[in-house]
Amino acid sequence: MNGGDSCIKMEAIMRIEFDKKYKVFHLATTEMSYYMQITKRGFLSHVYFGKVIETIPEEILEANNNLINPDVIRHEYSGSGLGDYRTPSYKIRLESGHTTSELIYVTHRIYKGKVGIEGLPSTYCHEDGAMTLEIDLEDKVGGFVVTLFYTIFDGQGVISRHTRFHNTSPKPLTILSALSASVDFSSSAYDLLQLSGAWSREKHVYRRKLVPGFQGVESKRGISSHQQNPFIALLAPDTTEYVGEVYGFSLVYSGNFLANVEVDSNDLTRVSIGINPSDFSWCLKPSEYFNTPEAIMVYSACGLSKMSRMYHKLFRENLIRGHFKEKERPILINNWEATYFDFKEEKILEIAKAAQKLGIELFVLDDGWFGKRDSDNCSLGDWVVDHAKLPSGMKDLAERINGMGMDFGLWFEPEMVSQDSDLYRAHPEWCLQVPSRTPGSYFYQRTQMVLDLSKPAVRDYIVKSMTDILESTPISYVKWDMNRPLSDIGSNEYGSDQQQEIAHRYVLGLYEVMERITTAFPMVLFESCSSGGGRYDPGMLYYMPQTWTSDDSDAIERLKIQYGTSLIYPAISMGAHVANSPNHQVGRRTSLDIRGHVAMAGNYGYEVDITKFSNEEKSLVQKQVTFYKSIRKTVQLGEQFRLKSPFESNECGWLYRSQDQQEVVVTYTRVLAEAYKRYQPLKLMGVKHSGKYRVQLFENQEVVSESIIGGDFLTQVGLTIPELEGDFVSCMWQLKVIND
Ligand code: DGJ
Repeated sequence: MNGGDSCIKMEAIMRIEFDKKYKVFHLATTEMSYYMQITKRGFLSHVYFGKVIETIPEEILEANNNLINPDVIRHEYSGSGLGDYRTPSYKIRLESGHTTSELIYVTHRIYKGKVGIEGLPSTYCHEDGAMTLEIDLEDKVGGFVVTLFYTIFDGQGVISRHTRFHNTSPKPLTILSALSASVDFSSSAYDLLQLSGAWSREKHVYRRKLVPGFQGVESKRGISSHQQNPFIALLAPDTTEYVGEVYGFSLVYSGNFLANVEVDSNDLTRVSIGINPSDFSWCLKPSEYFNTPEAIMVYSACGLSKMSRMYHKLFRENLIRGHFKEKERPILINNWEATYFDFKEEKILEIAKAAQKLGIELFVLDDGWFGKRDSDNCSLGDWVVDHAKLPSGMKDLAERINGMGMDFGLWFEPEMVSQDSDLYRAHPEWCLQVPSRTPGSYFYQRTQMVLDLSKPAVRDYIVKSMTDILESTPISYVKWDMNRPLSDIGSNEYGSDQQQEIAHRYVLGLYEVMERITTAFPMVLFESCSSGGGRYDPGMLYYMPQTWTSDDSDAIERLKIQYGTSLIYPAISMGAHVANSPNHQVGRRTSLDIRGHVAMAGNYGYEVDITKFSNEEKSLVQKQVTFYKSIRKTVQLGEQFRLKSPFESNECGWLYRSQDQQEVVVTYTRVLAEAYKRYQPLKLMGVKHSGKYRVQLFENQEVVSESIIGGDFLTQVGLTIPELEGDFVSCMWQLKVIND
């Protein structure tokens, strides 16, 4: 670590510099520059974020230095009550009851690499891949120090930020708001993009022009939520997939969040992101620290597509951990939509056997295997196998499935308890609850209650009950579900002055439990799920390298869900399965072919009773499985380029390019048939202009045509769309470079 006003140049391209004359910090990579200045009065002000700029003109710095009106200063991390009337980055109540505060620069440190955040998930990097700047700011009157952390990553337009509070006074402080980051832009000429929806309709893309006042997204559900994802982006008005400026803001957190944009009367735009201040406070005793979650800001000068690839790369290489980090994931079959709660050992074995014959690699036993779980109104918390359903026990079942040549996976919902359960009867005090109040939403939230993960005893119970099963059974995959948002947020573990901490303490408790279990079972592949994509966020990806994208398994609905999800989450993290037709969520009938094509854009699997398939269908499944295995590396470890948005037309297209750029896989889908319509060729991105490709077109997993086409033609003109009849049609191409 290097203290004081110094500069380390790791190499010309990634650097953090400090100019002593104007007291300016410059964080630079090949993709972006970020400038801040310590003003004459000691404020840390924002100067610039965007494409690389080597110097800021002196007159600009001079003018910035002389600003005295707090309401027009572009603050890096703003206080409140002293003339800046915009959204504060933090708010602290002193013992005196006052909340006014301003932060003055004290010192800074620049060093190689990146530090973690205690108790919270965060990106990581080896020493030569990243550089970090820490800046200490102080409120002397309030008696606290705020440290801002900035990390840049080599070759990326990425800045990670978080904030640490330190109570340096002899009196307790109450944190009322502690955001992770804020950025003051000098104009409001941007569009706001967000990923919003509902259960089974997650991550639809919405874009709107900024207007004066507040706009943004938040969660108050205790989980990041189906409704809003902890991500927003600001786009220059003419920005498209491949052209124009984008600023992405994502939060590595799985609970209540706020991502807010405020445009003021001076046309200044403040973006703020962090833990939602609503129903949040934190007692900070003398000498204690409080860390915020990490925010990840991405700058792309080349449209949304590049922003997405930067997030994908960062999440894959610097966030996801463990054995499965960059490993191809198994093709699975899950019994949920095949049987729901109504299964017996024989049925499970039949499905597994039929699936194994077709090349499927992993069988996952979903909800219903424990307690007396014949419906969703009992037994959560009683993690003991139901011998009425599985008379030979879980170990025997897993071994028999292993004996067929398949891995075995198991579903848990560890954070919950049913009122009708032995656990609840023994420990009614273990769930989140507010004294004297009947649980508000228990009756319609699947008649289950949320365990109070702020309690150490609850955390130990979860770890122990899962450990017992994972140790005694050959399990190679766990689906970690969470089927309701938090309500009745109160804990008898804490006093009245700390009840507003519980939502955050729940998330911290969850992180601790996941850390303990995933560390104890490093060879188990964990998939997180929250009624589908209710907690699909970077915080969860740190512990569990994949997520069940949505409970909506209809191929057509999935076009939008997966397209939106791909804006920041990599394909390898995105569970996508072939499900029944008619589909169980929307009743739509689609071909097995399109269901396969859409699911092949993620982490592939099946969620059907394959024993009921005709021989013809089984043969198609076998071909799909073989084909997916041949493209799996390209899809899961390659780079994605979106070609046509399902939000903009009847057609959708996306492309994956292998890391060595030798293979490209393209998927095209069309929702409804249109009379007398001539479809434009599908122009490709990400192919080598000078390359020549062997292009195979697949329909029903058969090669229906093969040709040699140049990369220049594919980019300029595109792939000809074949004749496809009817609604809900699709095809795929596999392209291989034949000269280089
Ligand atoms: C919700 C999940 O998203 C489904 O896939 C399934 O596991 C059910 N829960 C089981 O209760």
